[in-house]
Amino acid sequence: MSSIWVTMLRIPDGKSVFLSSGSEAVDLSISISKHITGRNRICIIDGSYLSAYGHGKDSLKDKTANKIPAENFEKLSSLNFEKIAAFVFEPGTAWRLIQFSSAGFVSAIVKKAKSAGSLIIVDEVTTGMCRTGKWFGFEHYSMNPDIVVCGKGLGNGYPVSSVSLSKKITKAFEEMPFRYAQSHQNDPFACAVALQVIKEMDRKGLVTKTEEKGILFKSLLKETARKHNSIKEIRGRGLMIAIEFHEKDLAEKVHEYLFQHRMIAGLKSNVVRLMPPLIINDSLIHQVVDAVDNSLVSLNPL
Ligand SMILES: Cc1ncc(COP(=O)(O)O)c(C=O)c1O
Repeated sequence: MSSIWVTMLRIPDGKSVFLSSGSEAVDLSISISKHITGRNRICIIDGSYLSAYGHGKDSLKDKTANKIPAENFEKLSSLNFEKIAAFVFEPGTAWRLIQFSSAGFVSAIVKKAKSAGSLIIVDEVTTGMCRTGKWFGFEHYSMNPDIVVCGKGLGNGYPVSSVSLSKKITKAFEEMPFRYAQSHQNDPFACAVALQVIKEMDRKGLVTKTEEKGILFKSLLKETARKHNSIKEIRGRGLMIAIEFHEKDLAEKVHEYLFQHRMIAGLKSNVVRLMPPLIINDSLIHQVVDAVDNSLVSLNPL
């Protein structure tokens, strides 16, 4: 399992450890980066969500995380990476209302981080496993991460996550041994589930399908948006899509309308988030878009 996985992640000669939740995996990845670099801080793009507990959450609370506002090159240039163990990159944030950083901004951070000896951790818990129309969200950028973390879709509902380490990291362990153990680490059943999920996604061609379905979904939603000026923006990558409204109230009502019509969407502030199952078909996509359209007609007649 581990060798198939690191090959897919493009971490040649890397190694993986399998855990249960995304939070555990992010926590371990940051802990490893602090151990290897001897530094205590991390850097994130502001609004990234990393973890329910541990290093990912604590660094935000105890302010050992430097948060760079999205696309703010000026803030980036003033940031000193000398004390930063890792840039923890979320290639598309669901929490920050479905936002994707520009390739130029991410390259600039990665370059600065690497030249100061910081590690690059990619948090693929949400964006991994075909969600954005590629196997992993970082493939939309030009980068070679030191550590990649996956969760959620890796088990297709079963709790399994992974931390994959480049050879540079595993080699560093020879000089600086690192011990981590828990009961369900590298659990054979969880690994068997993950392997089957990967095979099934591959067999169904979900990378390509997700990209195609995402294009269809967004183009239909954009048609709807042209009819309703209450919609501010439609954006997304693959099947990670946001409908942003001018008014928070209206977003709440559309969200409720979808729920009453048996469609589960996400809601944060003035944004309705759509992250449907990757096997969604065209007819269901049309149904969702029609429901959005109908809700706006009934709530806010043209
Ligand atoms: C980007 C990201 N990282 C980490 C996590 C934490 O994963 P889990 O909820 O499995 O602990 C999440 C969960 O939503 C997430 O979206």
